[in-house]
Amino acid sequence: MSTSAEQFDRDARGEFARLGRTRVHRGELLRHPVYTRFLHWSVAIFFILSLLTGFAIYSPWLFRWLAPLFGGGARTRALHPWFGVVFEIFFLFQFINWFGPMAWTAADRRWMRRIKAYATNEEKLEAEDVGFFNAGQKLYFWVIAVSGLLFLITGLLMWFADSMPRWIVVVSYVLHDIAALVMLGGLIIHIYEGTAHQPGTFRSMIDGTVTEKWAWTHHPAWYRAVTGRDSRDAYERERRRQRERQRVLEEGERDMRESS
Ligand code: HEM
Repeated sequence: MSTSAEQFDRDARGEFARLGRTRVHRGELLRHPVYTRFLHWSVAIFFILSLLTGFAIYSPWLFRWLAPLFGGGARTRALHPWFGVVFEIFFLFQFINWFGPMAWTAADRRWMRRIKAYATNEEKLEAEDVGFFNAGQKLYFWVIAVSGLLFLITGLLMWFADSMPRWIVVVSYVLHDIAALVMLGGLIIHIYEGTAHQPGTFRSMIDGTVTEKWAWTHHPAWYRAVTGRDSRDAYERERRRQRERQRVLEEGERDMRESS
């Protein structure tokens, strides 16, 4: 990434930090600053608008009920490429924002070999070497980057179809639709991962914070980097705390039974 892009990203983070606020309480860590949250939700909104208008164009029979939401068939067709262009612009800024933490490492290759255990929740804790993003998250990011490029090229070719050879337009339709289906599949998994599969993740994109427990459970290497503490120690401390709590509860119940 060029230094001017990095400088732009740093300046934007600074500007947005002044516009919005992120409160980090005791026992919490800052995960996503205001600028990152702004970009994420802008990308998400314009991607979903592109998806909905795209579906209405792709299959008017199945998605007939979608076109009226955007002012009818003709307007839906006219709006779709513009939603797509705005999505591309926001994603470009998000790409610059996350390019660093999305770099693929040896730890990610090891994570991919454990993907089944991750999906089935076999392990209580992530491996020690999982950093700010795990390999699954990085994969999703790079799928969006490649699909985004494909959307842009094929979208422009279809937009200006009159001045293109027919076969190029036909191939563009196929590639555009394949990219959209891949992205839809990815989005369904992404929403599940960001909400139900990992409770405590969704708030990171709302108020920007996560609990320390969330951090040492899912991203131990990141936890170690920002706190200087070991995730295994934190886990053992938490287990001792829970055992002690359980013991006190049981003692209390026993005392109550004996005194009644
Ligand atoms: C609409 C529902 C969505 C929800 C609930 C959601 C939720 C989240 C959350 C909570 C994170 C932070 C994960 C973390 O810090 O570990 C995140 C990250 C991310 N989101 Fe979304 N998101 C949504 C839509 C989208 C869309 C439409 C896109 C792009 C087309 C997108 C792209 C990303 C990417 C690339 C990341 C970073 C990698 C990852 O965590 O997978 N998100 N999202």
